[in-house]
Amino acid sequence: MTTTLTIRRPDDWHVHLRDGALLAGIVPHTARQFARAIVMPNLSPPMTDAAGVLAYRARILAAVPSDLEFEPLMTLYLTDETDADQVARGYAERAYVAAKLYPAHATTGSARGVTDVARIMPVLERMQAIGMPLLIHGEVTEAHIDIFDREAVFIERTLAPLVAALPALKVVFEHVTTREAVQFVMDAGAQVAATITPQHLHINRNAMFLGGIRPHAYCLPVAKREEHRLALRAAATSGNPKFFLGSDSAPHDRRLKEAACGCAGIFNAPFALESYLAVFEEEAALARFEGFASEHGPRFYGLPLNAGTVTFEKAAVKVPEVIQADDTALVPFHAGETLNWRLLS
Ligand code: DOR
Ligand code: ZN
Repeated sequence: MTTTLTIRRPDDWHVHLRDGALLAGIVPHTARQFARAIVMPNLSPPMTDAAGVLAYRARILAAVPSDLEFEPLMTLYLTDETDADQVARGYAERAYVAAKLYPAHATTGSARGVTDVARIMPVLERMQAIGMPLLIHGEVTEAHIDIFDREAVFIERTLAPLVAALPALKVVFEHVTTREAVQFVMDAGAQVAATITPQHLHINRNAMFLGGIRPHAYCLPVAKREEHRLALRAAATSGNPKFFLGSDSAPHDRRLKEAACGCAGIFNAPFALESYLAVFEEEAALARFEGFASEHGPRFYGLPLNAGTVTFEKAAVKVPEVIQADDTALVPFHAGETLNWRLLS
């Protein structure tokens, strides 16, 4: 007898789909797994206005295989110059569903990010007024602050004061990686939620140095100590509606990762659900997988739950060493490993 698991169709509340030649090779992986996805705007140049976002959305839709239904939920990239009226206009026209705050120089494609949250207070006040979610890459950027402390310091210096100043602003603390972040989100009001990636549930910082330097385990925020991974696993599998699925799948050409200065990002889209499911099974929390993957996100965003279901079969799936997108080689998360659940198409 085969064991199966059926859940409502899930969504990915944080993904990087890239653009240009790569797009057609990337989008199908997410569209095969998810009904909708929050698409990050850190392209070059970044998606700083509604017209650009709408054009990008059209390119994504053109890359969706014809046998799949997939809805990209777009985001706006905030800069020091972002104008509150323009943000509100694009939101009213449904060009995007949220705005992303990258502290300047925190990560890939963040050079035009925000240098000081104080500079965009009028924008954030407007977002609070119109109920538009703010998605935050929560790391300070000062070189003297230890990279493993940057998320916790961001909470103290930036996020806690921001949430106190704008108590009705909907905030998604993206890809949380620490016990401190989990605690902050749990203690905050219902307007504050968080996404959790599969990699931060599977690996701790040792994975980057396992017998040598491992560029494919490197992403930002960087994986932390084991105690933090355990806190994330507890949060994700707890059933708390403040925590939901956001893969942060972030593909980079293999040659740009296996380099003297390798890019940050883990390409987990091809087996994202199978990867999360492994965690929920290990934590004896399969019954809470549907909430995390398919219910908590839409409820937070105020969007309908998906109709339809997906089914997994308890069967071994071998993750390939390399996946091609156009003529670019990408190394997926779990490359060469075997996962125990298979997503039936
Ligand atoms: O590892 C990461 N990669 N973290 C980010 O915040 C950005 C992403 C990317 O776009 O490559
Ligand atoms: Zn991201």
